[in-house]
Parts: sequence; C-alpha cells; structure tokens
Amino acid sequence: MVRAAVLVSGGGTNLQAILDAKAAGRIPSAEIALVVASNSKAYALTRAANAGVEGVVLHKEKTETPEAYGERLLAVLREHRIDMVVLAGFLTILSENVIRAYDHRMLNIHPSLIPSFCGEGFYGLHVHEAALAKGVKVTGATVHFVNEIPDGGDIIAQKAVEVLPGDTPEVLQRRVMEQAEWLLLPRCVEEVAASLNEIAAQTVV
Ligand code: GRF
Repeated sequence: MVRAAVLVSGGGTNLQAILDAKAAGRIPSAEIALVVASNSKAYALTRAANAGVEGVVLHKEKTETPEAYGERLLAVLREHRIDMVVLAGFLTILSENVIRAYDHRMLNIHPSLIPSFCGEGFYGLHVHEAALAKGVKVTGATVHFVNEIPDGGDIIAQKAVEVLPGDTPEVLQRRVMEQAEWLLLPRCVEEVAASLNEIAAQTVV
C-alpha cells in the first residue's frame, strides 16, 4: 500500500476530507502515514492527531534557503518511507530537489479552474477575489501534479462550481470547497495511489 504524506499550513479542511474518505473506505490504495505542517499553530495538526496520524512541524526559517528547507523536508519524508505527497493548502514554496524527488507522485489542490486565476500570488481568498473581479460565472477546483511551474503541472481532475449573484470571496471560497475541493482531492488521492500500486506490482513481476 502506498504511504502518503499530506502537507498543510492552515485549517486543514482538505486534510479532513482525505481523513474522512480514508475512514469511510474510499481510499483503499493509500495509508495516510504522515501530516507535515509548516507552522505549529495549524489546526490541521489537531485533525491529524484526532485521526491517529503522526504530525510533524517543519517551519522554514527566514534565513534558510528553499533548498536547505527542501533537504530537511526530504529527510522527514524518507524517514517515514513516504511514496506520495499531497499538498493541501501548503503555503511554503517547494524547491526543485523536492519536486524532482516526487515527480508525478506529488499532487496539489488549487481553488480555480486552471489555467484561470493560478500561478504566483494566487492563493487563499485572492483566487476568489480575482474570479469575482473578472466576473466569471463558473469557477471550480483543480487537482494537478506539482512541477517547477507554480500551478503548472499536469492536470489530474477538475470540477466546476457556479458563481452566484452577490457572492463574496468568502462565500465563493466555501462553495468551491464544499462542491469541488473536498470531493475531488480524496478521489484523486485514491486514483494516483492506485496507479502507483499498479506500477509497483508490475515492477516486482
Ligand atoms: C484550499 O482552498 C486549497 O484549495 C488551497 O488552500 C486552501 C486550504 O484550505 N490550496 P484548508 O487548509 O484545506 O482548509
């Protein structure tokens, strides 16, 4: 079974969706083996603890280079024999050494329909503010593999969500989470884990 780590920085509602899906038997191909938080106050750590999943805090020091942070992260991931990484609201930029080590084994959820409202500076509420400012009538969420281009890796799945009259960024963010992110991410975790299991099985034969 694939050992997955979920990387988080904040509230962790996407992590919760993964943990709930796992508990409900909807992620049979992966074990959620580790949660890595970029700050010790992340509520996601409480969610991990409640589910009996080990949580580790790995904070990037201001003076630390992205590569040095990446090496520390890789060491933690290797120590826990992590096969697959899920970025679920992880706000620390990852360096190339990490991205290369988990090529097509690291996925991210972004709260828009890529290639709209993505890339540098598009995170959190900013994404929904930009969608509302543009006046789009449909937005959504995208799960994609992580490569060296911010939000630029191969797309795994997308789900559209309606923008409604009177939406505020907060209201839209919540709808995108409820109708797209929380459904899409656990499904993609299972899909990618299942294909990694298959590759592993073929390699053994
Ligand atoms: C989500 O909107 C996700 O799409 C983005 O960061 C947010 C994380 O929220 N990458 P949460 O911590 O999962 O509640």
